[in-house]
Amino acid sequence: MPPLLAASAVTKSYGGVRALRHVDFELHSGEIHALVGENGAGKSTLIRIFAGAAQADSGEVRFEGQPVTLHDPLAAKALGIAVIYQQPALFGELTVAENIGLSLESGGLWRRIHWKQRSRLARELLAQLGSTIDPERRAAALSMPEQQTVEIAKSLGARARVLILDEPTASLSEREVNALFGVLRDLRRRGVGMIYVSHRLEELPEIADRVTVLRDGETVQTRAMAEVDRATLIRMMVGRDLDAVFPKRAVPAGHVVLETRGLTCPAAGVKNVSITARAGEIVGLSGLVGAGRTELAEVLFGLHRPSSGSILLRGKTVNITSPQDAVRLGIAYVPEDRRRHGLLMPMSVAENVALAQLATASGLQKLHEQGEYQNADDYRNRLAIKTSSVATPVQTLSGGNQQKVCLARWLTAAPALLILDEPTQGVDIGAKAEIHRLMSDLAAGGMAIVMISSELPEILGMSDRIYVMRSGAVAGEVSRAEATQERLLALALGEAGAPA
Ligand SMILES: Nc1ncnc2c1ncn2[C@@H]1O[C@H](COP(=O)(O)OP(=O)(O)OP(=O)(O)O)[C@@H](O)[C@H]1O
Ligand SMILES: [Mg+2]
Repeated sequence: MPPLLAASAVTKSYGGVRALRHVDFELHSGEIHALVGENGAGKSTLIRIFAGAAQADSGEVRFEGQPVTLHDPLAAKALGIAVIYQQPALFGELTVAENIGLSLESGGLWRRIHWKQRSRLARELLAQLGSTIDPERRAAALSMPEQQTVEIAKSLGARARVLILDEPTASLSEREVNALFGVLRDLRRRGVGMIYVSHRLEELPEIADRVTVLRDGETVQTRAMAEVDRATLIRMMVGRDLDAVFPKRAVPAGHVVLETRGLTCPAAGVKNVSITARAGEIVGLSGLVGAGRTELAEVLFGLHRPSSGSILLRGKTVNITSPQDAVRLGIAYVPEDRRRHGLLMPMSVAENVALAQLATASGLQKLHEQGEYQNADDYRNRLAIKTSSVATPVQTLSGGNQQKVCLARWLTAAPALLILDEPTQGVDIGAKAEIHRLMSDLAAGGMAIVMISSELPEILGMSDRIYVMRSGAVAGEVSRAEATQERLLALALGEAGAPA
């Protein structure tokens, strides 16, 4: 039997950048095929070609052995190829049910007519994913993981034969990942072929049957997943041995930089939060998706007004009514959703990195352009941002490299308090260790860091102290010495033994 979907000798360039070079890839029905590689290796480009969203310069794509020309996404959709992109692409002004409905119906007429059925269908599809998102909510109001869940529900409804997932778990926590894996295994039994892109290498043995590694736009190898261990996989990805774990450094904690007392904001669902973060400390915020961690960060950054409680910086009560206030007071926030309040896509890497500094400089004095380039170039080297020059527009960078630019911007601002929401989501294994190293350096330099992460190993590895949030409140505080996966999960789930 010919493979369900195949690429042979596919080549694709963007201007002078060779994104793919003679790439071979085969997907069988009933298989979950992992596609891995460093940021900028070409994973999303290959996916866009299978999805009809980009055209190969040369080479061939075959569906069930027949060469096919995928001129546009509709051609791919007609073959039963569904894609969940790295960046969810929902219509913000429409509801969840409308988004799901529209993707399943081709005509626009359907809108408004069967809203009841549509709502029921959306609810059913979401329930299969173990989600309770209200189908009548507007998509713009959804968090990043919620948007991803809706995207997956859309493809479930489409009954795809090929399902391509570009980093679906990047912003999901353990529980959501398990629900997703359940769904994927079910689809596998029904003969669906799946391409699964992820930087979370530890989850691959659990879900993937085979793995293909791309490096610099070329296929390195395809192997049975059971045959390769993590070290082998990393060596195939980066072309050398890499000690990808950065050890945490002990830094003596200094004065209290941030303190909240009974901070409450009903609009954001934040309830009676009292936390502290000291200079030199990395404070982890753990919890399930929807536990209120991002919302707490947004209150601290002036995106929501608290109704009661207070925020103190270096012991003084402050009134933060806008992000401008927060920045002026020395708070920086790297959000998880870099599209929504992150990067200015048409602008260059250097301009994007310099933006935070513009915001901190009084009177908007513009940095000397030379310095702007120098600084951006430094970060390009430190974080291995893959781009030919810092003058390149951010929109042409791969997803993980955009995330690094976002981080570089706020590190440039040298804040007193740095709030990071999923700082290593979507970045490759080498860059992740480099980001952890940078965080340790910054803490050693006296910065207080609050890190939100859904990856328990990251929380356990990097935090001096951990607050676990549940339903908008702090469910518990755990020191580095006491912290274990089990203890954090028990607190996050509100299980017996954990204080209510
Ligand atoms: N529209 C574009 N214009 C110019 N260059 C592009 C464009 N799209 C991708 N590239 C380049 O092609 C290369 C491969 O990018 P791609 O997005 O496929 O990487 P990726 O493996 O998905 O990385 P990541 O893990 O960061 O998502 C990168 O060097 C990227 O900058
Ligand atoms: Mg990508």
